[in-house]
Amino acid sequence: MEPLKGLILSGGAGTRLRPITHTSAKQLVPVANKPVLFYGIEALVEAGVKEIGIIIAPETGDEIRAAAGDGSQFGAEITYIVQDSPAGLAHAVLTAEDFIGSSPFVMYLGDNLLRDGLRGLVSTFTEHEPDALILLTPVDDPESYGVAELDGEDNIVRLIEKPKDPPSNLALVGVYLFQNLIFDAARSLEPSWRGELEITEAIDKLIDDGRTVRSEVVRGWWKDTGQLADMLEANRLVLEELVTEIEGDVDEDSKVEGRVVIGPGAKLERAVVRGPAVIGAGAHIEDAFIGPYTSIGDDVHVRRSEVENSIVLSGSVVEDLGTRMEASLLGKEVKLTRSQGMPQTLQLLVGDRSEIKLV
Ligand code: DAU
Repeated sequence: MEPLKGLILSGGAGTRLRPITHTSAKQLVPVANKPVLFYGIEALVEAGVKEIGIIIAPETGDEIRAAAGDGSQFGAEITYIVQDSPAGLAHAVLTAEDFIGSSPFVMYLGDNLLRDGLRGLVSTFTEHEPDALILLTPVDDPESYGVAELDGEDNIVRLIEKPKDPPSNLALVGVYLFQNLIFDAARSLEPSWRGELEITEAIDKLIDDGRTVRSEVVRGWWKDTGQLADMLEANRLVLEELVTEIEGDVDEDSKVEGRVVIGPGAKLERAVVRGPAVIGAGAHIEDAFIGPYTSIGDDVHVRRSEVENSIVLSGSVVEDLGTRMEASLLGKEVKLTRSQGMPQTLQLLVGDRSEIKLV
């Protein structure tokens, strides 16, 4: 078999993570201070797949190019492929046809995170050479995913995208391995009810044509980071495996407990950081408590406040909150402060589609 290429899908509109995705690609939202997309690139490289195409949207593509560059920082060679509109996963595959050529390939959804990487999958694929290999995992809300219908012997009968009445609880994970036949299958599709060329239908076509479609059930955890709750959970899962590394300054009056990473140039003054937590480079934490499962981005300032189970993106300021901030995601350069004195009022300058809960 020819060596596999990689295709990461990082186009799309990211509507469910608005407002963050008004200005930023959802695949660049960080988990444990590293963009989600980078986990995918690293997993491909680790599995020996170094020639990688990244599908980008015209609106957010430049930002993705700037972050991932030519791939040399990962030991990969990255080619960017612009998809004019988010017309579906199978449309993205067709857009990449010139890049893929005659190679088999791994398609990886750029907002997915897989604990156990891709190495095992790639070797199953190269050993058995099926026409497609897909990954499944049991979920509580199958109607939010592509779902597999299996026969009595665990063979896939068909795949259905976001079914109202799911035939099983086995969701499609965002990693697919294909031989070149997938292009003909994708070309034969009509747009679905939601106006997209669905990869699930292209795989169904392979099954109907009697091709071999194998499936495996994911062993370690898997997360689609499309929504806030998933993002926070992905952050918790990644931080769970954090290894302590303290580069910044921790003053005598500060305490660092459990597994904590403190980036270069970061400063803790009279602060408590209880891991697992990561504090980005150049961040200042003063008279503050950073609780478990929190990722504080680069150059963030937290003063006289408590933050827990949250993600705070670079350049933000959190001051004098008065209550603990929990289960929150703050975008870049957000300012969250409390004014002193009476009367107690709220003064807000909030972007479109933001979400603020006062409890
Ligand atoms: O996460 C697993 C699920 O991913 C599967 O169970 C579903 O079968 C599959 O359709 C997909 O569902 P989502 O609703 O999560 O797909 P989403 O629109 O979020 O797109 C996934 C990634 O692909 C995301 O990084 C954006 C990118 N994308 C999406 C579309 C529709 C593109 O690059 N181009 C596109 O046209």
